[in-house]
Amino acid sequence: MEMRREGRDNLVVLKLGGSVITEKERYKTPNVDSIDRLAKEIADAGVKRLMIVHGGGSYGHPLAEQYKIKEGYREASQIEGLSKTHQAMLELNKLVVEALICHNIAAFSVTPSSCVVTKAGRIETFYDDALQILLNTEFVPVLFGDTVLDTEIGFTILSGDQLVVALVAKFNANRLVFGVDVGGLYTADPKTDTSAQLISHTTFEELKRTLHNIRGSDTTDVTGGMAGKILELTNIANADIQAIIVNATKEGNIYKALKGEEVVGTSIRKE
Ligand code: IPE
Repeated sequence: MEMRREGRDNLVVLKLGGSVITEKERYKTPNVDSIDRLAKEIADAGVKRLMIVHGGGSYGHPLAEQYKIKEGYREASQIEGLSKTHQAMLELNKLVVEALICHNIAAFSVTPSSCVVTKAGRIETFYDDALQILLNTEFVPVLFGDTVLDTEIGFTILSGDQLVVALVAKFNANRLVFGVDVGGLYTADPKTDTSAQLISHTTFEELKRTLHNIRGSDTTDVTGGMAGKILELTNIANADIQAIIVNATKEGNIYKALKGEEVVGTSIRKE
């Protein structure tokens, strides 16, 4: 296999939201059509250096909520919850990776709980040697929001959103694409407010200033929905990177965002 020279091609990090790849209201139900279509779009886009992180949707969140995994260790009954939540994520990851392989992408599953340890919910240790080698060869690493071990609270949930921002910083990505089930960032909640307008361009600094206006989503989401995403994004304010939030339920959007083509959504830059 040909080894790529580090930094030869731009790196794109793609987060596929759990509400896009699962039926969010139906416990442990994958959206197989959506997974397959996205795998095809990713294959068609042909990005040379790509990392994918997917969310938990109806696989991760209901179990994490039931056993209060994010809050850390409180009682022994949570232990089986940790195993179940992690296992559910592995099941979903298998479906995503298999779909990508079907479309001839050299997808390679990397389990975050095996290489990341957090401290009070924030990434403390990230053993990234394997990821580095995968990236420098022909592989597309596929990670996911996961249950992780935590040096202060025992265990917690590492959101895919915290993970992608860490990956962007670690591997100097040029573009971060968030595929979600809404059109991007709006001036108000588009689901309840008809006057809500799409913000097509903004900056990381502007996001920081407006953070308090953005509300979390109302479905079961232990990691904070859109507000959590934006909070994580404010951590890369100094990086020379473009972040794009697009509706991945609409055909063609992920393809365009990966290719760097014009796409309806929210584009966020340094300035
Ligand atoms: C959550 O990951 C993972 C678990 C609940 C185990 P994310 O927070 O990235 O998932 P989505 O995209 O919101 O579903």
